Amino acid sequence: MWPLLRSLVAPHLGNMLLLGVLVLLTVPSLTRGHPLPFKSFSPPDWGLTHLAIHNKTGEVYVGTVNWIFKLSSNLTKLRSHMTGPVVDNEKCYPPPSVQSCPHDLAQTTNVNKLLLIDYAQNRLIACGSTSQGICQFLRLDDLFKLGEPHHRKEHYLSSVTESGTMSGVIITSQHGPASKLFIGTPIDGKSEYFPTLSSRKLMSNEEDADMFSFVYQDEFVSSQLKIPSDTLSKFPAFDIYYIYGFSSEQFVYYLTMQLDTQLTSPDASGEQFFTSKIVRLCVDDSKFYSYVEFPIGCTKDGVEYRLVQDAYLSRPGKQLADSLGISEDEDILFTVFSQGQKNRAKPPKESALCLFTLRRIKEKIKERIQSCYRGEGKLSLPWLLNKELACINSPLQIDDNFCGQDFNQPLGGTSTIEGIPLFIDKEDGMTSVAAYNYRGNTVAFTGTRNGRMKKVRNKRSIVFFWQ
Ligand SMILES: *[C@@H]1O[C@H](CO)[C@@H](O)[C@H](O)[C@H]1NC(C)=O
Ligand SMILES: *[C@@H]1O[C@H](CO)[C@@H](O)[C@H](O)[C@H]1NC(C)=O
Repeated sequence: MWPLLRSLVAPHLGNMLLLGVLVLLTVPSLTRGHPLPFKSFSPPDWGLTHLAIHNKTGEVYVGTVNWIFKLSSNLTKLRSHMTGPVVDNEKCYPPPSVQSCPHDLAQTTNVNKLLLIDYAQNRLIACGSTSQGICQFLRLDDLFKLGEPHHRKEHYLSSVTESGTMSGVIITSQHGPASKLFIGTPIDGKSEYFPTLSSRKLMSNEEDADMFSFVYQDEFVSSQLKIPSDTLSKFPAFDIYYIYGFSSEQFVYYLTMQLDTQLTSPDASGEQFFTSKIVRLCVDDSKFYSYVEFPIGCTKDGVEYRLVQDAYLSRPGKQLADSLGISEDEDILFTVFSQGQKNRAKPPKESALCLFTLRRIKEKIKERIQSCYRGEGKLSLPWLLNKELACINSPLQIDDNFCGQDFNQPLGGTSTIEGIPLFIDKEDGMTSVAAYNYRGNTVAFTGTRNGRMKKVRNKRSIVFFWQ
C-alpha cells in the first residue's frame, strides 16, 4: 500500500494525507499542545492516489481508484465523479473503444495516476490507468466532464498502473493559444508507444485535434525523450519513475528513480540497484537540447540515502532563508529519501528528510555544462546514449539562462548533488513531505508508511511532533 501514501500535499496550513485518509488539522492547536481536532475524509476503498489543492479557494481535489472527488477546504465532500471500472484490457493498443481488440475484455479498475489543476482553463486534468492512460478534463466547479480525448496516439500517455510513478507539470502560456504539459512516465518496456518524457500542447478546447501533440516535431527532433531499445535489450527492467515534478524560474524539473545501469549487471542475474536523479529542461526548449540529469541524494553519518520517495517545492521562512544565505523568494526543495539503492518497490524504512536550495542545484548544473563546453570529459548519460561521447570544446558563454545547443547534449552529471540532511527516521519510513511558511518559520510535515505524521519545524534547530 505504500505508494498510495506518498502523494500527500499541502500549500494550505497543515493538510495531510495519511494511509489514504485525508486529515485536516489546525496549526495553532498543534503548537499549544492540545489534542488534534482531526477532520478526515476517506474514499470508499481507501485507494487514494493523488490530490491537488486549489491555490485560491483551498478546495481539495482527490484522485482515487475509480473516483475523483471534490472536497471543500474543511474536507466536506462536495462532488464526486466516477472514472471506472471500465471495459478494458491492458494489452489492447489502441484501447478497445477505438479499435477492436483480440484479447478478452473485462471490467477493469481505473487508478488515478495524474491529477492537475489547469488554472488557466478552470479545469482538472485527471489521467487514469485504463485505456493506455487517457485523460479526462473535468470542470473545477462541479467535476462535469468536458472531454476525454482518445482517438489519437498522443492521447495515450502511459500504460503503467502503478500510481505515484508519473508526474506532470503545466506551464501556462503568457501568449498563444496553448499551454504546455510536461509529462514524465515509466513505459514498462513499450518505448515504441510511449516517450518517457515529453512536452505536449495543452489546448483550451478539449476537442481540439492538437490536444497533447508534441510541442515541436520535425523529421529529426521533437519534444520528447524515448528510452532507446538498445537500453531495453541490455536492461529489460530499465524504466524511469517520475516521483515529483515542478517548475522554477524558466525550468521544469523532475525527481526520478531509475535502474542504476552502472551497478546492476545486464544479465539480470544479480541484485538490482536504483539511483535517483534530478532532471532539468528549459520550459521554452521545445527540442529538448537543454536536457540535463544529475544523481541526487543525501548522506548522513556516512550513510547514503538515494531512493527518492517524495519532494515538495517551497519557499523558506525568514529564519531558514537567513541561515541558508538565500532570500525568502528563492525556491527550496524538501525531499524524502530512503536508505541505500536497493528495493525500489519496498524501500528500507530508514529514511532522511533533506533540503536543497534551487540556487545550489542550478550552480552544480551550470558548472557541469561549462566544463563540458570547455571540452572536458564525456556526456556521461549511458542509459540514453549507450556510448561515451566526448564533450566538444566551444567558445560559447554559458550563463544561468543557457538552454542548450544541438551538440554537448543530452548531458549527465557525474557527481551526486547532495542535500542538507534535516532529520533521519529509522522506525517508520517517511514516504511523503509537505512544507509551509508559518510566521517566518518553515514547517515541514512528513507522512510515514504506517500512517503517522511528524512535524519538523526548522529554524536550523529542529522541533518535531509525533502523532
Ligand atoms: C495559482 O497558481 C497559478 C498557476 O501556477 C498561478 O498562475 C496563480 O497566480 C496562482 N494563484 C495564487 C493566488 O497563488
Ligand atoms: C465546511 O464547508 C462547507 C462547504 O464550504 C460548509 O457548508 C460547512 O459549513 C463547513 N463546515 C464547517 C464545520 O466549517
